[in-house]
Amino acid sequence: MVSKLPHIGTTIFTVMSKMATDAEAINLSQGFPGFKSDPILLDLVAKFTKEGMNQYSPMQGIPGLRKILAEKTKLTQGYFPDPETEVTIVSGATEALFCAVSAVTRLGDEVIVLEPAYDSYEPAITLNGGIPVYIPLNSGDFSVDWGKVSSAITYKTRAIMVNSPHNPSGYVWTENDVNQLAELVERTGILVISDEVYEHITFDGKPHISLGSHPVLREKTFVCGSFGKTFHVTGWKIGYCIAPKTWSLEFRKIHQYVTFSTVTPIQFALAEYLEVPERYLSIPDFYQKKRDLFSLGLSKTEFEFTPSTGSFFQLVSYRHLSTMADRTLAERMTKELKVACIPISVFYSDKRDDKIIRFCFAKEESELNEALNRLSELHRILE
Ligand SMILES: Cc1ncc(COP(=O)(O)O)c(C=O)c1O
Repeated sequence: MVSKLPHIGTTIFTVMSKMATDAEAINLSQGFPGFKSDPILLDLVAKFTKEGMNQYSPMQGIPGLRKILAEKTKLTQGYFPDPETEVTIVSGATEALFCAVSAVTRLGDEVIVLEPAYDSYEPAITLNGGIPVYIPLNSGDFSVDWGKVSSAITYKTRAIMVNSPHNPSGYVWTENDVNQLAELVERTGILVISDEVYEHITFDGKPHISLGSHPVLREKTFVCGSFGKTFHVTGWKIGYCIAPKTWSLEFRKIHQYVTFSTVTPIQFALAEYLEVPERYLSIPDFYQKKRDLFSLGLSKTEFEFTPSTGSFFQLVSYRHLSTMADRTLAERMTKELKVACIPISVFYSDKRDDKIIRFCFAKEESELNEALNRLSELHRILE
């Protein structure tokens, strides 16, 4: 048998979460919230299932959800995508990313990926016959080296995949980043696939700037979002893609044969839930408390780090403490300290090991405090 993805195994998120369960460790590895979602939203889902909204929805998503999402985009990002032709509801951002990559990538096309990168990008490019071209983010703050991106562009470059707020580093793009990208792709045929699943999780008043809000990028970008991440319901796998009309048309051609449509009662529930902007506008404050608590606690450990500026992830370095491989450290921390994390080498195509691990702090305060307690024993496994 010839595998189409011979280099792909089970994702590290599955591996670490299973290891955490087996070891009865606190799971700060996989990126999912450890607290309950709003009962109002849960009641709405129950209401719509009972009312019989249980059959296929329209392929592009129910009109009510597309319209309120366009209104949310106007409120938070200052532009109003056409709900009819530019907004599509899909089964998670993962589907949005896959369909966007599939819509643009032809055999031999190069797609630029900034790494460390979320692990679903590369297989989507490869399966479509594309060639991923990796550009490392700057070490330290994980900002973008625009000179390197510019030099990687060739006549074969079809698209650039970007992610802000960034997983795993928490880096949030500045206006300068957005303008640099716009300058690079203006007057070219290069498209942009923008993973914005952490759009509502930024700290210290730093705004998230959607690429759709930039006049040049708006014509070239697939903005991929996730209601699962925003409303603490990652298991629902529901997200969206906002793209210009012609590209939404191509995107929908693929979406209709990947999943056809997305879970109906949840679409109705979200459409009603999104009517109150406070429900998403309050999210940065909610997560800021967790970020602050976690970084204060981490400052008392031996790790080195800069507090995350977005997403619900915190990177920490142990380079000054040990030469242990990051995968080994993650495994030993899970089994011996009972705190699971993700080694950052897995986010690099060449698996480079900078001695950095990632924690997810989307957890109850009590759980974070207990994890921090256990992390103070780090020296036990590094000795
Ligand atoms: C950067 C990034 N993109 C996409 C996703 C997937 O989002 P969804 O669960 O909506 O498919 C994740 C989930 O961890 C993520 O971290």
